[in-house]
Amino acid sequence: MKEHLKPQKDIELSPEFNVKDGRLFYRDIDLFRLAKEYGTPLRFTFLPSITDQIKAMDNFFTTVIAQTGYRGTYTYYYCTKSSHFRHVLKKAMELNIGIEISSEYDIALIEALMREGSITTRIKVICNGYKTPRYQDGIISLIEMGSCNVLPIIDSKSELQHYINNLSHLKEIQIGIRLNLSFLHFYPHESRFGLSPQDIRTLFNTAIKTNNFLKFTTLHFFNEKGMAENDSYWDVLEEVVKFYCEMRRVNCDLTTLDIGGGMPFRNNPGTNFDIILFVHRIVTTIQYVCRQEGVPEPDIITEFGKYTVSEATTTIFKIHEKKRGTLINWAIIDGSFITHLPDTWAIRQEYPVLPINNLDQEQSPFVLGGLTCDSADIYPNSEKREFINLPNGDAEQFIAFFHTGAYQEALSGFGGVSHCMIPDPKHILIDKDNDGNLAIKVFSERQKSKNLLRILGYQ
Ligand SMILES: Cc1ncc(COP(=O)(O)O)c(C=O)c1O
Repeated sequence: MKEHLKPQKDIELSPEFNVKDGRLFYRDIDLFRLAKEYGTPLRFTFLPSITDQIKAMDNFFTTVIAQTGYRGTYTYYYCTKSSHFRHVLKKAMELNIGIEISSEYDIALIEALMREGSITTRIKVICNGYKTPRYQDGIISLIEMGSCNVLPIIDSKSELQHYINNLSHLKEIQIGIRLNLSFLHFYPHESRFGLSPQDIRTLFNTAIKTNNFLKFTTLHFFNEKGMAENDSYWDVLEEVVKFYCEMRRVNCDLTTLDIGGGMPFRNNPGTNFDIILFVHRIVTTIQYVCRQEGVPEPDIITEFGKYTVSEATTTIFKIHEKKRGTLINWAIIDGSFITHLPDTWAIRQEYPVLPINNLDQEQSPFVLGGLTCDSADIYPNSEKREFINLPNGDAEQFIAFFHTGAYQEALSGFGGVSHCMIPDPKHILIDKDNDGNLAIKVFSERQKSKNLLRILGYQ
């Protein structure tokens, strides 16, 4: 091994991985066969994973709520921005969860799901994010249609005024308010989202209390650093619950705390992030503060995006060539990290990465290189100078990036022109039929050069 190359840490595979005859199987899918049959680069979405994730989280909360005697309920919402694809939304909606949307364009998505019957009047829709006039009007029309259960989360004072001006003919509308976290002296940056505690108090006294049709039912916050297992998250949660209690004392319509998204996904095949412990701490923290403050415990809402969808999608590349260098051995993939997995480049996101064939061979460390001309189009893209172990020989080699289902198309675009005109990969959907057999269908073909030229005005 070259002196400067640090071998990849030994990976202990979680139970959905299995090695047979030198090939990697994932949830019983023969990945090598899939790559050969459909070609690479290949993205596949295993839809049952979405169901599994939602059911698991629901089960964690239900269990913890029962164990701790917590007196509120739990509701799962899926945050659409992590993946807007219809197959994802349809799968998630089979479990009658709520949806959290974040822009005016999401309204059309909701309307499309209503037209096809995937959303019924009972479905809850949380409208988050900054509200442009068109977004506000879209929310108003959803509320007036009464086809689903809509909860706008007020992000600015003018937004509330717009609903007061346009919806006061209704008997009642429910609203939530996003709490801006900058009031916490330990919050790492000044946030532009939501309203300060003082603004919320003032708004409540001057605009909500005085308008009987407005019911302020939900306090929302989102820790922009996610729900990391470090003290700052728990400090944020405690302070938010204290503020919830303050508002609850003056407003008995307030019954719900929406703690947003940020649940981590497993970015390493061996990661054993103990979600149930984490959920336990969320529930007991809220319970503890409410008991101290003598306030009824709120119903809890989460808006998990990446937790819901990341594990459903895998991206497979073929190694074009291994270029052996002095300090680094390069393996050139038939795609690009910058365009196919942009988070690897933008935030140095790590994913579980494994070769999927020739696993009975000796391995040595490589850095993977993408097809663009960009020196940053590499993986791992960390400062730690880590490497990926690949089988040594020069036989045909494939490698898979797991848990890539969240945000990647949202960031790199889907069906557009990317860096060095690297086309979108082929994307297939895998589901299980009623007998548990895999049902595979092509969602989109690999983008063709004709399509790229058309976008660029050549045709
Ligand atoms: C308000 C809000 N809710 C939920 C989410 C989803 O976060 P995640 O995908 O980390 O669960 C986001 C992400 O930016 C968000 O801004």
